[in-house]
Amino acid sequence: MPRLPEAPDPAVLQPRLPSPVREVVDERFARHGVQLLLKRDDLIHPDLIGNKWRKLAPNLRAAGGRPLLTFGGAYSNHLRATAAAGRLLGLETIGIVRGDELTDRPLNPSLARCTADGMRLHFVDRSTYRRKSEPGTLAGILRAADAEEAYVVPEGGSNALAVRGCRTLGEELRGRADVAAVACGTGGTLAGLAAGLAANQRALGIPVLKGDFLAADTAALQTRAFGGRRGSWSLDTRFHFGGYARTPGELEAFADDFESRHALPVERLYVAKLLYGLVALTEEGAFPWGTTLAAVITGLPFS
Ligand SMILES: Cc1ncc(COP(=O)(O)O)c(C=O)c1O
Repeated sequence: MPRLPEAPDPAVLQPRLPSPVREVVDERFARHGVQLLLKRDDLIHPDLIGNKWRKLAPNLRAAGGRPLLTFGGAYSNHLRATAAAGRLLGLETIGIVRGDELTDRPLNPSLARCTADGMRLHFVDRSTYRRKSEPGTLAGILRAADAEEAYVVPEGGSNALAVRGCRTLGEELRGRADVAAVACGTGGTLAGLAAGLAANQRALGIPVLKGDFLAADTAALQTRAFGGRRGSWSLDTRFHFGGYARTPGELEAFADDFESRHALPVERLYVAKLLYGLVALTEEGAFPWGTTLAAVITGLPFS
């Protein structure tokens, strides 16, 4: 058996945990008797931002020094965070990118950052990418990427270890809020958050993708991570603005305004949709007078 390199402990990166909680005064909430808190997971680490730290740290430990292979689209926050973790911890990383038409094009700034951090990129066609969790397809991708020994992290980083890693987010909010809200892609962060909250708290997920698959996916992630459904959680599927990465003018204007009111850089693909949804729900009277609402800030704009 070849000896694996020494497994680096991500704790050497000194994450800022628990992440800070800040109250913001915003009359759109205050006039409905709702106190708004921002749970600043974006401040955990400058490169492993927000839910990325919580999801990746347990996987970096489990990889035990093996190369880390994961999946994402051309602008994936998760690919960038994985590449940065590889650079910081001296681990080899391989990114499987959706869309083989990108192979011969200049890299966009997000993928360029990945390669600058040492990630090896391998582009696959969209139909293969869609089938990447089928064992035969995955084996073919690993062979083609010359990465058969790699530790594989799924798209979005949401495996059982990652979901268990996100449970600390809920635990950090115990006693702090009645409702904890988060933007959802795969549902992994929501699944962990809900499991970590106390019995008198609930979690609310705002999906940024269009479709009705997320409740089933989140429940399945909880079953894989914890053996069954945990905590109290629900989704409001009305705030996707047309789907993933769609950021129409109304959303941009809302995010610009939120930034200037509260000096918070608002990530557009997830966080802006979450905050917009929370203002709309508050204005609809969805939260009883006296509710403390914690919005989890899971990301920062890419610059
Ligand atoms: C900034 C940000 N917020 C929220 C999420 C959603 O996380 P999840 O896929 O666990 O639902 C992501 C996903 O990658 C993200 O990048």
